[in-house]
Parts: sequence; structure tokens; C-alpha cells
Amino acid sequence: MSQSLVTMSYIIATILFILSLSGLSNQETARKGNYYGMLGMAIAILATALSGAVTSYLILVLALLIGGSIGARAATKVEMTQMPELVAIMHSLVGMAAVLVGFSNFMDDSVSITGVEKTIHEVEIYVGILIGAVTFSGSVIAFCKLSEKISGKPLLLPGRHWLNLGLLISSIILGGIFLSQTETGGGIWPLAAMTVLALIFGVHMVMAIGGADMPVVVSMLNSYSGWAAAATGFMLSNDLLIVTGALVGSSGAILSYIMCRAMNRHFLSVIAGGFGSSSGSPAAVIEGEVQPINAEETAQVLLAAKHIMIIPGYGMAVAQAQHTVNEITKLLRDKGKKVGFGIHPVAGRMPGHMNVLLAEAKVPYDIVYEMDEINDDWGNVDVSIVIGANDIVNPSALDDPNSPIAGMPVLECWKGETTIVMKRSMASGYAGIGNPLFVMDNTRMLFGDANTMLQAVLKALKD
Ligand code: TAP
Repeated sequence: MSQSLVTMSYIIATILFILSLSGLSNQETARKGNYYGMLGMAIAILATALSGAVTSYLILVLALLIGGSIGARAATKVEMTQMPELVAIMHSLVGMAAVLVGFSNFMDDSVSITGVEKTIHEVEIYVGILIGAVTFSGSVIAFCKLSEKISGKPLLLPGRHWLNLGLLISSIILGGIFLSQTETGGGIWPLAAMTVLALIFGVHMVMAIGGADMPVVVSMLNSYSGWAAAATGFMLSNDLLIVTGALVGSSGAILSYIMCRAMNRHFLSVIAGGFGSSSGSPAAVIEGEVQPINAEETAQVLLAAKHIMIIPGYGMAVAQAQHTVNEITKLLRDKGKKVGFGIHPVAGRMPGHMNVLLAEAKVPYDIVYEMDEINDDWGNVDVSIVIGANDIVNPSALDDPNSPIAGMPVLECWKGETTIVMKRSMASGYAGIGNPLFVMDNTRMLFGDANTMLQAVLKALKD
């Protein structure tokens, strides 16, 4: 393939990636966005494979077959609730690739550049390995936390900020030693030492972040993986990889910003860690009496209401209740009720989690509202149904300055006439804290698996 054809293919792939990102920003165009991304990636792989940079097609085909079949298997096997873990472990692979490419580049004797060009190349290698190693170890810890293989509780070592500063300064000093040693053909030891420090930094950074801040960590590691890919692009002198990495890096950074704003947090304080407590910890004691309700009574309340708001959370994903929710929605709308969905930006376990589930169940997009669109309108709502949500409807985020989620905006459903909460027990949510909503006067608790209970409600509505 001629060089100009390769360049042309890279430009087309870049445009397709940009179209993919813009498509993915809206649920109505998300499917198209995915197709653009797939087409762009196929063109990118083909153009790179035929560009003359490949030395062994056998290895390339083998790598594609192994990687492709692992990816295809993961995509078909992984449950929707395990998506965030999958994303985290995928980020770790990008980090690992940057580290491996960095070392192989460094040890490649065939590169014959000198002077400033050589120094720039060495800086690229050093920075690429640094970002890659932080991304790799940070993502592995995020994977372990999200899959609850380790506790979600923040690990707060004494003097942890000093430790981080020490690691940063040591990496800079090692960078200087690395550059001076490469002049005499050395440099592997400072490079290896920095890699170990960067791996420790990645582990320490994510270990210090508490349960409720994990959404930001996922998007932040997404951003890091993009910068790691861009660094790999510099090392391999591949323009497309640089552009793609920069696109992922910057979109991840924007997503982190949006997440921080949604949770009313400063990015730096998230990175500093210590916010939120353990997942799966026992529920805090809440004073007040719980008022249970059954499926038939819930159906009666719904039939008497005019304006109904549904608030889905992580439990809806666990129970896979989205299809039953859609059937109930259809039935209620056919009866002339106004039904809407209120989506919190960090509901579930990944950005857009609820939107994906509702789109899968074919809930019409125009009745799905962002939190900001509806949070002033609860006074007009007759019944809110909270399906497997907890932290995102916790009033203590607003009322209790000592709460670990204090300051995080929440869906203020208790301001409506009646709230019905569906969950299996009084257990806490991801942030591990009690929820006073469950004992409010206008709240009723419908205990049980969300899908089972919704099917009972659907049956009662039909009867
Ligand atoms: P959570 O606060 O985690 O609450 C989910 C609730 O669902 C639990 O209290 C659980 O109570 C209930 N549940 C679980 N399985 C159920 C089932 N089969 N049927 C009915 N209920 C079930 O979820 P949320 O309100 O969506 O809030 C999200 C939390 O995750 C936030 O703290 C957020 O910071 C964090 N987080 C979010 C993300 C992103 S990006 N969205 C990423 C990582 C972490 P029972 O056990 O009593 O049923």
C-alpha cells in the first residue's frame, strides 16, 4: 500500500472515530456511533497491516485471532452488571501495551537516530511507560474493587499525600538519570525502577478512593488509557494511534469532569482520595418505622395516580427488570397516565448504565429525563417508583453535612406525594450508608427482587 493511501485511510479512520464519539453522546444515535467506530477500527487495522510496518503476518494474524476471540467471548458472556469491571480490565490492557511497547522500543537496536531526535524518542519512551504503568496497576485495582474482589473502602495510609509526592519526585529524578545513562548505552535500571514506582503509584491512587467516588475513577482511567495509547503512538511513530489516543484521553477527561460536577466534587479531591466508605457494609441504623406495601396495593396506588416518575438504580440492572418496567410503562400510558423516568448521572455502575438498559427494553427516549431536567418538578409528581436505587435518592446527601455523600445532588423524589421503594431488604447501597428515605411518612417499601415484584404489580394492574 502506498504511503499516501495509508495516510488517506488514517484520515478516514480519524473522521469515523470523531463521528463515533459524537454519535455515542446521544442514545438515539449511539447505535450508529458504534458502527462508525467499528468501521474506523477495521480501516485502521487494515491500513496499518498493509502499510509495510508489519514484519510477520503470521504473528499479526495469530494475535488478531487470540485477541479477537477473547474479546468476542467476553462481549457475549459478560453480564450487563459486570460491564464496568470489563471496562476497567480493558483499560489495564492498554496500559500494559504501552509499557511493553516502551521497553521493546528501548531495547530495539535497529533504531539509528541521534542528537535531539534520540532524546525526544527517549523522553517518549519514559513518559509512555510511566503513564502505561499507572494506568495498568490503577485499572487492575479498579477492576478488583468494582468486582468486589477487594473491599471498596478507601485505604488511607498515614502521610499518603507525601508518599504520592515522593513517588512523583523520584520519577522525575529517575528520568534525569535515565537520559544521562542512555548517552553511554545504559538506562535500563532507572527505567525499570520508575516502572515499579509508577505501578505502586497506580495501586496507591485507586486504593485511596472510596466507593462513592468510583464513577470518577472509571472515567479517569478511561482518560489515562487514551493518553497511554497516544504515548504508544509517539513511540511507534503512528499518527493514527496518537490521534485516537488523544480522542479517548480528552473524551475521558471531559467525562471525568461531568462526573465530578454531577457529584458536586472537585477532581483533585477525588484523586486525593478518602471519600465514601465500603461497599456491602451493614446498613446504618435509621430511626423511624418502615411502612411496607404489597404488589396489589402498589398497583392500586399507581392506578389512582396521574403523574408517575420511575427512578431506576443498580438493583434494576441486577434484577434485569427493564423489560417488565417497559411493559408496566406501556400499560400505564395506555391508561392515560403521564409516566417519566428520572436518571441520575451515577445511577448503576457505569456512566449511562440506566440509559443503556432502558434503550435495550425499548423505553421511548422522550420520556427519559436527566436529573437536572426534573429535580425542580417533584411537587407535581403523584407517585415515584424507586427500582433498586439507594444512594441516588438519599436525602442525607442534602441534609446531613457529615454524610460521606454530603453535597452530591440526588433525585429528590420525597418531595412528591408518595414514593414506593423496591428493594430486597434494608441493606445499604454502594456508598455503604443508611437511607432516611425508607422511613419517611410518604414512603412505602415493596420488599423483594425488583423483577419478581414488578411482574406481580403488572399482573395486578392487568387484573
Ligand atoms: P446503590 O446505591 O448501589 O443501591 C442499589 C440498591 O439496589 C441496593 O441498596 C440493593 O438493596 C438494591 N438491589 C440489589 N439487587 C436488587 C434486586 N435484585 N432487586 C431489587 N433491589 C436490588 O445504587 P444506585 O442508587 O444506582 O447508586 C449508584 C451507586 O454506585 C452510587 O453510590 C455511585 O457513586 C456508585 N457507582 C456508580 C458508578 C457509575 S459510573 N454509575 C460506578 C461505580 C460506582 P437490597 O440489597 O436491599 O436489594
